[in-house]
Amino acid sequence: MPDQISVDPLLHQARAAAERAYVPYSKFRVGAAVEAGGQTYAGCNVENASYGLTVCAERVALFTAIAAGHRRIARIAVTCVDAGPELGENGRMPCGACRQVMAELMGPDGEVMVDRVRTFRVSELLPTAFTL
Ligand code: THU
Repeated sequence: MPDQISVDPLLHQARAAAERAYVPYSKFRVGAAVEAGGQTYAGCNVENASYGLTVCAERVALFTAIAAGHRRIARIAVTCVDAGPELGENGRMPCGACRQVMAELMGPDGEVMVDRVRTFRVSELLPTAFTL
């Protein structure tokens, strides 16, 4: 499979992180990995019995990089490993809340690599982000 010989290392990390997802409710595993200052940080979605407290994989990875001291994140890879073909490409895309956080922490030119879709700029995913 060409996928396994040429996969971007950041995407590889995202796929590994998805295996660690805590998803007893949705059973929908998501993994993310970010690159900042030459280092990488991974995240997975973490659900809660109080559903609204669930945190997406993307925000776990982004906030982990910030907590490690970074202030600008260059790239993020995202993978929805349980998204079947019936969901189409939208079943693999980052949610709106995560796009807003990407806009703040990555800026409009940040790269968002969506597994089995393509790579986007943050500005494509959220052209009119809220700012203060
Ligand atoms: N989820 C993510 O981790 N990232 C997204 O961008 C979309 C949704 C998670 C939240 C929840 O645990 C599961 O996927 C189903 O919505």
